[in-house]
Amino acid sequence: MGVVQINHLDGHVGETVTLQGWLYNRRSSGKLHFLELRDGFGIVQAVLSKADAGEEAFARADALQQEASLRVTGKVVAHPKRAGVFELHATGFELLAAPADAYPITKKEHGPDFLMDHRHLWLRSKRQHAIMRVRHTIVQAIREFFDGRDFTLIDAPIFTPNACEGTSTLFQTDYHGQPAYLTQSGQLYMEAAAAAFGKAYCFGPTFRAEKSKTRRHLAEFWMVEPEVAFIDLEGVMDLAEDFICHIAGRVLEKRRPELGELERDAKKLEAIQKPFPRVTYSDAVAIVAEERAKLATPSDAPPLEWGGDFGGEDETLLSQRYDRPVMVHRWPHEVKAFYMKRDPADARLALGVDVIAPEGYGEIVGGGQREEDLAVLDAAIEKHKLPMEAFGWYRDVRRFGSFPHGGFGLGLERMVAWMCGLSHVRETIPFPRMLNRLAP
Ligand code: 4AD
Repeated sequence: MGVVQINHLDGHVGETVTLQGWLYNRRSSGKLHFLELRDGFGIVQAVLSKADAGEEAFARADALQQEASLRVTGKVVAHPKRAGVFELHATGFELLAAPADAYPITKKEHGPDFLMDHRHLWLRSKRQHAIMRVRHTIVQAIREFFDGRDFTLIDAPIFTPNACEGTSTLFQTDYHGQPAYLTQSGQLYMEAAAAAFGKAYCFGPTFRAEKSKTRRHLAEFWMVEPEVAFIDLEGVMDLAEDFICHIAGRVLEKRRPELGELERDAKKLEAIQKPFPRVTYSDAVAIVAEERAKLATPSDAPPLEWGGDFGGEDETLLSQRYDRPVMVHRWPHEVKAFYMKRDPADARLALGVDVIAPEGYGEIVGGGQREEDLAVLDAAIEKHKLPMEAFGWYRDVRRFGSFPHGGFGLGLERMVAWMCGLSHVRETIPFPRMLNRLAP
C-alpha cells in the first residue's frame, strides 16, 4: 500500500495505493462522494462509497472542504473508455489538515487583482499549473539549445555599477555606502565572456524600473542572453531564428496537454518555422503606416515616423502580416543602446535586430552586433551621458584584442505568454513584480 504520485497511476492499475494531496473539488450524492484530489503531479477522482468506506468515513468526507490536505487509500481503476484516465475506488482517508476558512478562490469569476493578491494560492489551479509547466519546459529547452552548441554558461552579476539599457529604467540600491543598480541585462558581462569562451550565455533575473503598466512589462523578468565571438548581424539573426524554433518545437513535443488546458491553438505554434521574414527598420515603418491606414477605427496613438521607436501598437500592426516572428533589423542609431555597432553602409543606422512575435505578442528578442571600435564606443558612451569611469572594464574588452561579436536577449515571460496564448505577462512568472505589485 505504497504512496504513489498521480502521474504514476498507470503502473498501479488493480493495486491498492495511497495518494497524498489536497481536495480540489467534491461532489456528493446520497451514497457516493466524488473527491477530486490533486497532488501537484496531476488530478484524479477518488470515488468513496458508503459501502466500501463505511458509515463513519463516509460521514467525515461529507465535511471535507476544498484544499483540505488528505491521504486517500484505494484501488486504482483504469477508465473503461478513456486511455490514460484513472480513478481511485477509495476505501478510506486520513484528514491531515482542515482549511482554516473557506478557500478564497472559488468557481465564481474573480478579478485579476484579487487573484494576484492570492497568487500563492492561485498557483494551485489547473490553468496556472499548466502555465508553469510550459515555463519549465521553455527553460529546459533554452539550456538544452545552448548547452548543445558549445556555449558556456557564465552567470552575470545582479548588483552592477553601471547602466546597460538606459538610465531611465535603473533600480538603484545602496551597496555598502555606494550606489549600485540591479542589472538590466547581463550583456556587457557576456561580451567579456565571449572573449574568454567564444560562445557564452547567461540566464537569470533582470530588472527594469519602467513606469509602464502594459501587458508586456514586468519590473523583474528573466532573460537569456547568448553572446558570440566573430559573428555578424546576419549570424545573430540565424541564431535567434534557430533558437525560437527549437523552443516552440519542444513546447509542442512535451506540453500538448497543457496547451489543451489553456485552449491554445497548437497550429499557431506549428507555424513557427524557418525562415522568419527579415525586414529593415525603414521597410517596417512603411508597413506599419500601410496597416494603420487599413484600420476600421483610427488609432489614437501618434503615428510612427522614421527615427522613432516602435510602440506596442506598431509592433502589433507589423506582426499582423505574418504567421511567424518577423525580424526588424538596422534601426536608427538614436533609438538604440550605446553599444550597438554602426552600420558601415549607413552611419545613421545601428546593426541591431528586434524579433517581433506574431499575434500581437510584441518584441521577444532584442540584440545585434556590438561596437568593437574603442573610439566609436567612447563617443557613444559620451553621447548617452554615461559615466565613462564605470565602463573601464567594458572598454578593456576593446583594448585587449577587440573582435567582431554580437548576441541577443530573449525575455522568458514574453516567450511564455506567446507560447501559452496569454494576454498579459503577469501569469507567466510565479510571483510577478510590477509597477504596483511587490507582494506576495
Ligand atoms: O531589448 P532589450 O532591452 O535588450 C537587452 O537588454 C539587450 N542587452 C539584450 C542583449 O542583446 N543581450 O530586452 C531583451 C528582451 C526583450 O525583447 C523582451 O523580450 C524582454 O527582454 N524584456 C522584458 N520582458 C518583460 N518585462 C520587461 N520590462 C522587459 N524588457 C525587456
